[in-house]
Amino acid sequence: MIKFHGSNKLKTAVFISGTGSNFKNLVKFSNSKISPIEITFLISNNSKAKGLIYARGKKIKQKIFKFKNKIKDENMILNQLNKENIKLICLAGFMVILSKNFIKKFKGKILNIHPSLLPKFKGLNTHKRAIENNEKFSGCTVHLVTSKLDSGKIILQKKVKISKNDNPKTLAKKILKQEHILYPKAIKKIFSNL
Ligand code: GRF
Repeated sequence: MIKFHGSNKLKTAVFISGTGSNFKNLVKFSNSKISPIEITFLISNNSKAKGLIYARGKKIKQKIFKFKNKIKDENMILNQLNKENIKLICLAGFMVILSKNFIKKFKGKILNIHPSLLPKFKGLNTHKRAIENNEKFSGCTVHLVTSKLDSGKIILQKKVKISKNDNPKTLAKKILKQEHILYPKAIKKIFSNL
């Protein structure tokens, strides 16, 4: 197995809007020797995102951009990412849709985790829609980000059974647990040829 250390790990930025449990989990993963990435930067559009507190504790550089002027903020972010030598972006519960121009600048280097079995249930309220649609399974997907929402190449998926008693909250909890396993696995898969 290839072992990675600080200097040969890919510098990665995570973008969040809320709790940041995936962010926290990715930080833990990135600190292990089997991780090809190193998380060195956190971006949030929400100054109250809980993940910011965790990042502070771990001394991970962070910046808040409110996206009131999307073009301006995206350009500032691109400058920052270049300055920090960031090579990969992991979106993790980031509720802003990035522009075509931004995505073009990081083509093939932006990942996202989505709480459904894509191409089913793109967008918001996935768990509620999966239950209302009487699906037997839902799950999560790690995919590449393209300018079409939740439509880029799928890297990995994990199925989760929906039981009769599930509501959107219980299903979200079950799926989130799997997200925490899937995201690191997908990252390892992408870089296993290094
Ligand atoms: C996750 O379910 C993720 O798939 C979705 O938003 C949620 C973020 O959770 N895009 P957290 O902030 O990582 O806890």
